[in-house]
Amino acid sequence: MKQPIVIAIDGTSASGKSTNAKLVAKALGYVYVDTGAMYRTLAWYCLQKRVDLHDDNAVAALCRKWKTKLECVEKNGLRAVHLLVDGYFPEKEIRTSETTAAVALVAQVKKVRVWMKRVQRDCIQFGNLVMEGRDIGTNIFPETEFKFFLDAKLEERSARRAADGVQENLAERDRRDSSRATSPLMVALGAKVINNSHMTSEQTSGLLIAEIQKRLAEKK
Ligand code: DC
Repeated sequence: MKQPIVIAIDGTSASGKSTNAKLVAKALGYVYVDTGAMYRTLAWYCLQKRVDLHDDNAVAALCRKWKTKLECVEKNGLRAVHLLVDGYFPEKEIRTSETTAAVALVAQVKKVRVWMKRVQRDCIQFGNLVMEGRDIGTNIFPETEFKFFLDAKLEERSARRAADGVQENLAERDRRDSSRATSPLMVALGAKVINNSHMTSEQTSGLLIAEIQKRLAEKK
């Protein structure tokens, strides 16, 4: 059986991963997976259950026993994977400033990352994927031939977040994401790096789609 194709899109916070990964998934008819949303869901769940986010063992214990399920849903022409917890997808709750402030803490727990790897690899049950995150090309699907790394200048990324109404210390989140011991944010070997500081999302996604189509044609 032919293995599903995985397009890995990693990069810094607010580098346009979500917007572009969705555009690429729509254009190719692939399933979109937001792995950051999965970490956010765990952070939100820890807050709900009043688990001390600085206690790695307590966070890992909750992650071991929470009741989750992967679901593929279609909305506005985009098929996307959701991680449900107790049958619920906390779409709005995972974007609050409280969850955003908590997420880097759960994302640095080794046992959490091992759990996430298993669940994220399971997503290929839904078919070809466009998966965005921080360690997709380095750790989750290192075997994929389709690795991309998005970045933009810090001022540009901060301006994009502010335009979305979110004030966030991106430099601090970059530092935490890049300096954690387990699967830190870094450019995967063979990844195509795209700095989109001066590019629109149409230009960035256009570049990604052209590159993917070229590589797909070479594989035939
Ligand atoms: O992409 P995002 O802002 O929703 O990600 C939320 C946090 O989760 C971010 O601080 C980094 C972390 N993350 C990660 O460590 N690995 C991933 N594959 C995705 C996100």
